[in-house]
This record gives sequence, structure tokens and C-alpha cells, in this order.
Amino acid sequence: MNKSAKVIIDINHKKFPVSPSLYGLFFEEINRAGDGGIYAELIRNRSFEDTIIPDRCEVDGCELHSPAGWVSPFEEAPGSIPGWHLRKDAQESKASISLDENDPLNSENSLSLRVEIEDVVDKGISVYNEGFWGIPLKKDEKYNLSFYAKKDGNFSGNLEITLENKKGEKLSSIPCEITSENWQKYELVLESTTEETESVLAFSTSDKGTFWLEFVSLFPQKTFMERKNGLRPDLVKRVADLEPKFLRFPGGCFVEGFSVETAYRWKKTIGDLTQRSSHWTLWNYRTTNGLGYHEYLQMAEDLGLELMFVVNCGLTCQGRPGEHIPLEDLDDWIQDMLDAIEYANGPITSKWGALRAENGHPAPFNMKYIEIGNENFGPEYNVRYKRFYDAVKAKYPEIITIWNTHWEVGTETKGLPVEIVDEHFYADFDYYVMYHDMYDTYDRNGPKIYVGEYAMILGEGAGKLKGAISEAAFMTGMERNQDIVTMSSYAPLFANVQHTNWTPNLIYFNGTNSYVTPSYHVQKLFAENRGDIVLESKVETENRFPSFNGGMSFREIDLPNIKAINISSEEKSLFRSEYLTKEQQATCLEWYGLRIGDSSWKNYTADMNAIIGPQGLKVRFLDSTKEWQQNYFLWEFDSNGENRLVHINGWSRVKLSPNQTLNVNPDGHHLSIKVKHDSLYCYLDDQLIHEYKIAKIPYLTTVSTLDEQNNEVIVKLVNASEHNLETMIDIDGKEKLVGKQIVLTSDDPNQTNTMEEPNKVIPFETVLQLDSNTYEIPSFSVVILKIAL
Ligand code: AHR
Repeated sequence: MNKSAKVIIDINHKKFPVSPSLYGLFFEEINRAGDGGIYAELIRNRSFEDTIIPDRCEVDGCELHSPAGWVSPFEEAPGSIPGWHLRKDAQESKASISLDENDPLNSENSLSLRVEIEDVVDKGISVYNEGFWGIPLKKDEKYNLSFYAKKDGNFSGNLEITLENKKGEKLSSIPCEITSENWQKYELVLESTTEETESVLAFSTSDKGTFWLEFVSLFPQKTFMERKNGLRPDLVKRVADLEPKFLRFPGGCFVEGFSVETAYRWKKTIGDLTQRSSHWTLWNYRTTNGLGYHEYLQMAEDLGLELMFVVNCGLTCQGRPGEHIPLEDLDDWIQDMLDAIEYANGPITSKWGALRAENGHPAPFNMKYIEIGNENFGPEYNVRYKRFYDAVKAKYPEIITIWNTHWEVGTETKGLPVEIVDEHFYADFDYYVMYHDMYDTYDRNGPKIYVGEYAMILGEGAGKLKGAISEAAFMTGMERNQDIVTMSSYAPLFANVQHTNWTPNLIYFNGTNSYVTPSYHVQKLFAENRGDIVLESKVETENRFPSFNGGMSFREIDLPNIKAINISSEEKSLFRSEYLTKEQQATCLEWYGLRIGDSSWKNYTADMNAIIGPQGLKVRFLDSTKEWQQNYFLWEFDSNGENRLVHINGWSRVKLSPNQTLNVNPDGHHLSIKVKHDSLYCYLDDQLIHEYKIAKIPYLTTVSTLDEQNNEVIVKLVNASEHNLETMIDIDGKEKLVGKQIVLTSDDPNQTNTMEEPNKVIPFETVLQLDSNTYEIPSFSVVILKIAL
């Protein structure tokens, strides 16, 4: 059924210029975005280190246990050689391959591949590398092969190096003689006679003896801008098409690691490739760091992007849980950051600037932003943040620093100097649409906002058109408030379809192809259609009520502090107890504490006596969290009594009422929470402290900008409902709408794109020629109108 709506745009009320850096890239080494992704290296496990166990970690079966107790998959057995295989042309041949730690190439490359051939029958034996799920080749294109090799005195040294298809047919072949019993570098060029998506690189011989291989690398000559050690051009094009303005790198949690040894240290990622150390990532694979610090800087320069480097601030991922670098050891990490800035921006007369020049880039890269940490929090973060901040500002006052939290501006940053705060949102459809206006009420005098990570990841529609629509609704709010929301980046950017740790992402790829999600199209459309000035606009739309239900939950540490709890609904008692213990669990939520009630709980009153302890107090209600998919309201007290009402959805948070203060009574307080249809009330010692009317979910959200050069109004319209919306667009009383229309929609909001069908959900641009000012916005759609003035 069609519904009606109205958008009133006041072209005379120019609010503020658009933020030039609103849309940028979040690049993280996750999902094999780098190694096995945009980094064009074709050999997997090129220096045979993929199964090295990170220091201080232990492997148990297919699990890796970190020193702080985090458990993650470790799928390849330690000592195995992923990517590499031995092939004997005749079963009777006797040969083996193994990892060898004797005579390492250098201290950063501790392992090589030992190939021992005792007996050869028939044609011979081969060792081959299968690349990242096959080595893709293009007809008549050239590939630079380099490797280190040595042999023993028994081996002739004769090898044939080939690129072969799955059937073993040779697509390119070149003889090579290993001449030395010491490590020597070999460099050859292979040319493919045909196109092949899943070839292998083989080293074959029919002679007996032993030889060793180390650091085997194969790069297409046609990398992006033909740079050595470069990038996959097709994937770079995908990001360039997004018209981004900045590059945030290299993460994400990748920066943090789950242990000190798995944290990102940029100095280990520059210079000669064989001198770089690889390291295990918390995304369950080892990175070569071939795509290193210098390569990120170069990528940004080649794409014309501003640079944002995220530094580890002396904390590993606290959620996993983390390790804290002791404060007395922090100077090294701070110095690392200062050196990173000097490497990027310093003159060639400086130590690190000189190294940059030696690495082929005498001119500075002009890094603009440093983000201090990633998703770190708490007093451990605050103290480290301040030390990093002071150090940057003392030496590089022009660098803009970013506070890394995604929690609550104001509360956490209190008393600290903060220029930009990074907020992260991973939530469901309703969250993004419901809180599209959250920035309307943000403090204009506080720090600027960088929405550094967001994506609709929960519930129906994630990664599909529906997800993209909810993100678009939220983005209209970002654009309407881009006087404070100055930067943003969807996350994550890339995923190799063979190794996807996290979903959804913007761009999915295999060795040869890629496709993009509906969210990619939203990002691209919004970035391409910016305008110059944000205009005042109003929207009149129908909306729907979100539905919330669920019981109450308490942290384990709070349980002894809650007494005499009584929960009732319309005079009916739902739960009553003098004290709380974990054993009273009604439904299981192991990682939290105690959960009482279930999804049948909707309207209720909960009374209790509570002590606010040294860890504060958290009372969750209307809690419908399922496993890690969080959804609940929270009355949260800090230990000093400061308290607030918030909504948590996924890994996102929104504050629903202003912070309140309280003189904490060590003997406790009486708390009462009332849920009454769409209203929430929190009473403290019989006084109403927080009151909130649950927001409705609007059908239509919108933002309008003026494009001065083209003399047009750009109207972004997001219909997050199942209804077509007959929408009156009132631009100063204009009677006809003429210009262009770009529409992203589908008959099915759960439609998405795939490798096989990459164009199921794509935008269409057509001429707009309406004899009236009523425009029909299709259900579940994103529409951009460019209306001539
Ligand atoms: O974007 C994926 C992950 O989500 C990032 O690594 C981290 O910062 C966030 O939790």
C-alpha cells in the first residue's frame, strides 16, 4: 500500500559546507584483504612461516591459546607447509619436503623448504605452490619470479620451473640451474601462454640430491601503476571508484593483536622484503607484511588520499582479553609512533625521512591523522592516550589525533584533550533507521566525530539491500550533521571469498574476480553526490514502532550488590528474591552473569536495593540478547554515581538521556525501572531520574545539499519501509521536478549480489522529468534526485 510523505527544502537556509573528508576507506588486514587480496603476491606461504606458533602461545589441536586466554582457530598443523606440495611422477620415486631451520636466510626468515630426492623413477619430481586458492594467469602476461635457493654437493642443480594448469599442462616453462651450496637469489620472468584461474608454480627435476628454496615470490608485472611489490589493479579500481578521501590503515583489531607479539609494529614492515618479519594476526592467518607501512603510504598517495595511521597505544585487544604494556615500557611504543610520523613526513635529513628516501620516496607523504589505539577503553586506555597525545602534539602539533573509542563521547573523554572521536557501530536494521538522527543533538562544542566503522551486521538483511538501506538512513543523519561528523568509513572493506572471517564487507573477491554488495553502491552513491552546502530540510513521514522485549540481566560482579528484587507486571509477580546468584539463571547467557525472564516480558516494573560498587553498576532490561547478538536497555552507573540510560544493539550504543549525578550512599539505593509500552522510567530513591520514549522508526529519512556549480539540489531519500511513498518534494514551491534520478532498489529487500550474479542489486540513473512535485519513492530504496534549480 502506498503512503504519503513530504520533504520541505529551504534553499535559502544554507547550514554549513559539506565536509570534504566525509567518506574514506577503512583498510584492515582481515579476511585476507592484504595477503591473498589487494597485495599482488601470487605465492602463498612464500617464506614457509605460515605455521609458526606466535611466541608465548600454545596450540591445542586446531586451536591457538594466547597468553591472556584468548582461543582462536589455528587450522594448519604446526610444522605443516600450507600452499606447498610434493608431486612424484612415479610412485616408486623417493623424495620428501620438510621445513628446515638450519642455515636461515637471515634472522627474519628462520625457515626454508628442504627438498630431498633419494631416487627418481620416470620423469621426475616437483614441488609446487598452489597460490591463494590457485594462481591466476592472464594470456601473454609476464610474471616476475624471484627466489633464494641452494643445493648440496649431490644435486646437479638442474630445475625446470613451470606454471601449470590443474591437469599438469605447462603454460610457461623456464630452465634454471642452482649453482651454489650457499643461498643465492634467482630472478626470472615467466610468460603465460593462456588464461588460467587456478594454476600452480612448480619446481621440477629428474636428478637426485637435495636443494632448498626460500622466499619464493611471483608477481604479475601488471600491478597497479606497475609498481614493484604492488597491488592488484582490479581491486584498487574498486576502491578508487568509491571516491574516498582518506585511508585509515592498517586496522581494526589487527593493530591491537591478541598478544604483544601479534600487535602491529610498523618498523618490521618496511624495506627489503626478506628482512621484514611476518606475524600471526588475530584474524587467524599470518601476514607477510609485504603490504607494509611504506606500501600503505604509497597506496594512499597513488589514490590521492589523506593518511590516517592507527597506532597500537600499548594495549592489545582488551575484548579478547588483552595485555597491557606496562606504563614504564610505553616510551618505546610512543617512540615508534613518532618515528612513523617522521618516516611519513620528515625531511630526508632526518633519520626516518632518510630511510623513506632510501626506500624510493624522497618527498614526504604528508600524513595527516594519527588514531591512538583501536577500540581500547577504560583507565588503561585513558592514561596511555594522554601520553601518546602529548608526545604527538609536542613534536608534531599539526598532526590531528583521534580518540579510538566507540562508546560515549563526553563521559570517557572527560578532562582529556580530544580533537576527533572515532565511533563504531555494528547493529541491526532498526537501530540505524531509528537513530538516524542521533547526531542532531550532539554537542557542537565537543570533539569532531569520525564514524570509523559501521555496517548493518545483525538480523535479517545483513549484507543485503536491506542492510544497505539502513546504513543509508544513518548516513543521511551523518550528512545532515557533517559540521561535526566530519569523517566516516564503512568496515570492513574487503573479503576473500575463501577466507572470510567477518561479514558483511563491501567488496568480495577471489583470485580473478570481485563483486560488490548493495552497501558498496550506497557508499559510492553518497560519495559521488556530495554537493557543496547542506540545506535546511524537514521531513513529514509515517513511522512504525520498534518492538522490544526480554528480561533483565546483571553482571556477575554486581550480583552480591543487589538485594530484595521484585519484578512484576500488572500486579502479577514475575520474579522475587532477597538476593541474586548465578544459579537462578532462567535462560543461559554464560558470558555475562545472571539473566532473568524471557522474550514474553514486555511491560514490567523492577524494584531492587542496590549498592554501587567500585566497578559501578549495570542493570540491563528488555534484554533480548541472543548469543553475541546484543540488544538491551541499560541503566549504567559509574563508581562515582554518574549514571545514564543507554540502548545497546550489536556492538553499538546510543545514549537516551543526559548523564545524571548522584551522591553514592555506601549502604545502597532503591532502584525502580518501569517499562510501559513505549516509555522507560528509571527511579532512584523514588525520584524519576531518566525518562525516555522509545523512538519510532521513520519510513523516510533524507538530506539535501546544494551543488553550486551545477546549480542543482541533491536530495537523498531513503525509504526504509515496505510502502511506496508518494512524496511531495517542496523546493521553494517549485512545481516541476527536472534533472536526474538514481535509484537503488529491488523487488526483494533481502536480495544481494554474488560472484555469479554481481548485478542483481545495482543503481540505475535516468532522466527526471516530472510535471508535478510529487515523486514516488519505491519501497526499500535509496533514491538520489539531482534537481535543477
Ligand atoms: O571491522 C572489523 C572489526 O570490528 C575491526 O577490526 C574492529 O575494530 C571492530 O571490532
